[in-house]
Amino acid sequence: MKALVLRSAGHVSLDDIEQEPIPPGYARVRLLAAALNHRDVWIIEGKYAKIRYPSILGSDGCGIVEEVNDSERGLIGQRVIINPNQHWGGDERVQSADYTILGMPSPGTFAEYITVPLDRLHPAPAHLSDEEAAALPLAGVTAYRAIAVQGNVRSSDTLLISGIGGGVALFALVFARALGARTIAVTSGAPWKLERAIALGADHGVLYTEPTWADALRRRVGGFDLIVDGSAGEPFNQLVALSNPAGRIVLYGATLGGVPMLDVHRIFWRQLRIIGTTMGSDRDFAAMLAAVEQHRIRPVVDSVFLLSEYAEAFERMRKGEQFGKIVLRISA
Ligand SMILES: NC(=O)c1ccc[n+]([C@@H]2O[C@H](COP(=O)([O-])OP(=O)(O)OC[C@H]3O[C@@H](n4cnc5c(N)ncnc54)[C@H](OP(=O)(O)O)[C@@H]3O)[C@@H](O)[C@H]2O)c1
Repeated sequence: MKALVLRSAGHVSLDDIEQEPIPPGYARVRLLAAALNHRDVWIIEGKYAKIRYPSILGSDGCGIVEEVNDSERGLIGQRVIINPNQHWGGDERVQSADYTILGMPSPGTFAEYITVPLDRLHPAPAHLSDEEAAALPLAGVTAYRAIAVQGNVRSSDTLLISGIGGGVALFALVFARALGARTIAVTSGAPWKLERAIALGADHGVLYTEPTWADALRRRVGGFDLIVDGSAGEPFNQLVALSNPAGRIVLYGATLGGVPMLDVHRIFWRQLRIIGTTMGSDRDFAAMLAAVEQHRIRPVVDSVFLLSEYAEAFERMRKGEQFGKIVLRISA
């Protein structure tokens, strides 16, 4: 089969790979579509923990079950998505030490076929296209846990989501709109992304490229009860300053790196809670899928590339040009 293989830092190639026999309790899925996450870019650039070479990347996929080495033959022919969480463990609060994410170290979805444990498979929501379904798993569960579980969003909350063009951030917006938040503001680096976010249900948008972006938000909304951020870096102290007393900041990433001189005084004086979050448990994944079904949520697909056009797809993500998920079409 054809697979996108990371050979060494910065070196990815589309290669022919031998397929292994399917172990008991596993299924072989013919992938229809797969989606990019920023994780894939970090791994290619060598900026991720415990990178192994060679690796087939890709954490998100939608496909058709072709073979199972088990009694579950009824699954054959079903259109499925794959839960990228592996070995979360029994504690809903935090993943186990054995936790891994599909697509390094285990072979991922940027390939014609993938072999995965049967318990990772879920029916693809029927209202979604293959591309939309492929866009859902990793960013969907991360955003769902950030908003609904760690953030515990309430209908009285004023909510700020930073960097709305990102895959996780956009899911956070659609989940927050569905689950209830009084006012939702977003930031972005591009005016057209703010316009699109407002069309999707955001109430306010400001450009984080404007030096006075935080003042503009303060004027329009006041302060925020809940902030969901995946960037950290220098602007993080502005998020601390924008938090209402007893506010919660849910942090799922650090695209801009660490926070220089964290404003600890404001954090303790205002009784703020800074809550880390990563991906989500199997329970979160099931709850995320239920919310998608109940509210007929559709992932925002930015663009679709063929597997052979992977370099352009990665470049688009690297440059931050996307609004939503970048998807690879793998087979018809
Ligand atoms: N902990 C987890 O489980 C988990 C899961 C998924 C992702 N992540 C991490 O979360 C981050 C985002 O992931 P993703 O896949 O959603 O990435 P993505 O689709 O590539 O989005 C990244 C977004 O960062 C935003 N951004 C860039 N500079 C910013 C700034 N100065 N202020 C605010 N936002 C800024 C941009 O928003 P605009 O386009 O609007 O300018 C960009 O779209 C990455 O660091 C990723 O590794 C963590």
